[in-house]
Amino acid sequence: MKKKVILSGSTVTGDLTLGNYIGAMNNWKKLSKDYNCHYFLADLHALTTAQDPKKLQERIFSFFAQYLALGLDPEENTIFVQSHIHEHAELAWILTCLTPMGNLNRMTQFKEKSQHTSNINAGLFSYPVLMAADILLYSADLVPVGEDQRQHMELCRDIVVFFENRYGEGILKMPEAYIGKQGARVMSLQDPKKKMSKSDENEKNFVSILDTPKKIEKKIKSAQTDSDTVVSFDSENKTGLANLLTIYSVLSEKPIDDIVKDYEGRMYGHLKVDLAELVVETLTPIQSAYADYMKNKDYLEELMRKGAVKARVRAQETLKNVYKATGLVPRS
Ligand code: TRP
Repeated sequence: MKKKVILSGSTVTGDLTLGNYIGAMNNWKKLSKDYNCHYFLADLHALTTAQDPKKLQERIFSFFAQYLALGLDPEENTIFVQSHIHEHAELAWILTCLTPMGNLNRMTQFKEKSQHTSNINAGLFSYPVLMAADILLYSADLVPVGEDQRQHMELCRDIVVFFENRYGEGILKMPEAYIGKQGARVMSLQDPKKKMSKSDENEKNFVSILDTPKKIEKKIKSAQTDSDTVVSFDSENKTGLANLLTIYSVLSEKPIDDIVKDYEGRMYGHLKVDLAELVVETLTPIQSAYADYMKNKDYLEELMRKGAVKARVRAQETLKNVYKATGLVPRS
């Protein structure tokens, strides 16, 4: 039986976080066994906010290297850079012409983002259409996304319907959001009710996988916890502490109950010091692998090229079918 296609993208802003690391550890190996996985760096999406060209290019390499350093295997998965597959922009245009302004106007992320910037460009507005193109180009069955992308996923599904109404069925695959089995979710350090995010404005909220040991210690020590003194796991009332215990448990591979026992009669501070040490220990080999990759840009470029060659096969096939359906003449 053919494996289902998973596709996920990550906008190249910020650096990956401890949350990404834990999510990755739990998921990548398992997923690549059961699914045909595609991961890409959404560099075109990054252009919706003003980017310094030099920094953007450095960041694209850096992101690619971070993924590899975290253990994403370029043989078992298709890893590529969005802009290297020109079909993304082409399909996005066709879909843009099918998407009513009204639907885009309802996107809460656009509303929110445009409140925080004076750079309200058309790309920012049509961002979700490019995202739909990313997904539909690969006929993805499942798209792992966070809560914040749900509305964009719904729009993507609506766009399939708009397309089918105009051009017929069987050309674009209807995708579904993939909500993985509830693994460990790493929360923000200062605001543990929300997810740890690399694009958080407050950098105290996340540990970047490239943070120095000093920074890591500082961030973990200052993580928000309650004023109680007994270490126990209570995700309702002691959300901050529960988050730290979760991270501790995943990284040490110890059950949470055992960790709670270890800290009987000791204070939160002890737990934080040990956790910081554990995080540093975990990230050190990743940082050194990252540094090695970054020293070898030629190799990174080679992997980007190979990834694009693999990805292009599906992308070209879809675009050809879309061209035919829309009355454009497919490129020969
Ligand atoms: N918009 C997504 C985010 O900010 C990134 C993204 C772009 C994406 N294209 C995608 C995610 C396609 C999944 C599928 O997180």
